[in-house]
Amino acid sequence: MADLDGLKVAKDYHVDTPFANQQGFYVKGANSLDWGMKKHLSNIFDPKSGNTVMFAFDHGYFMGSTAGLERLDLLLPKLAPYVDCFMGTRGAIRACVPPEITKAIALRSTSGSSMLQDDLSHEIVAVDVEDAIRMNADCMACQVFIGGDGQLESIDNLSYLINEGFRYSIPVLGVCAVGKDMARTGRYFKLATRIIAEMGVQIVKTYDCEDFEEVVAACPVPIVVAGGKKLPERDALAMAYNVIQKGAHGVDMGRNIFQSPHPEAMAQAIRMIVHEGATDAQAWEFFQDAIH
Ligand code: R5P
Repeated sequence: MADLDGLKVAKDYHVDTPFANQQGFYVKGANSLDWGMKKHLSNIFDPKSGNTVMFAFDHGYFMGSTAGLERLDLLLPKLAPYVDCFMGTRGAIRACVPPEITKAIALRSTSGSSMLQDDLSHEIVAVDVEDAIRMNADCMACQVFIGGDGQLESIDNLSYLINEGFRYSIPVLGVCAVGKDMARTGRYFKLATRIIAEMGVQIVKTYDCEDFEEVVAACPVPIVVAGGKKLPERDALAMAYNVIQKGAHGVDMGRNIFQSPHPEAMAQAIRMIVHEGATDAQAWEFFQDAIH
């Protein structure tokens, strides 16, 4: 057991110093990966901006039919021009994403919980890696509950997917889930994102928080930020702008796009921030013009 007494508080994040081991390939921490991994990462992260607009619609895997996602078959083709990557379950993707839509796929690969339960932290790997290969998945998404009841299962699921991912050159997206007893603090996210990255994932998904730039600096792979519960559009754009300014490599946004009365305009406004260097004010101006 490591000696936990007298631990020093980490503080030297060098937030203004770019990631050092980046020669040869533009995705953070991916320099030493093989061609197949890099190809999948290039499908997800735009080679020009280095960032991604991932659209998350995997909510049904534990929430069932969710407001805004009632008809994936209608919604997804409409959003396709404005996003880089679709994140969903294999059921939803196979049934509702026309294969001729050439967007990256982040395949939700763990499952096991539902909103009917009190504790959502117990999951299993629900998708054979062979099926991820059949679907040409660009990454496999694994829910990870650090500090929660299901931490050990999470790490077991994550390790399995990472090992298989290296075997077949498929990146893993570690989804930093916040257990019901966990506070969404910068301290928690620094701990959780770093543990997930050190397990070997190629992408970490997490939330905005205080000291977010330190969370990013301490994480050796790209961070994408979940939108979280629906905010007024103006606030969601401000959140997206702030996290991009602080070093996030994109968003993995669901409700703040699909629960907007104007999901297409919202996706376009987010895209301006993530890829085109627009401010939240410019994106908001675009959004207002687009809906009127
Ligand atoms: C949560 O576990 C799911 O992975 C969602 O994809 C994620 O929370 C992102 O969606 P939202 O922006 O609605 O939070």
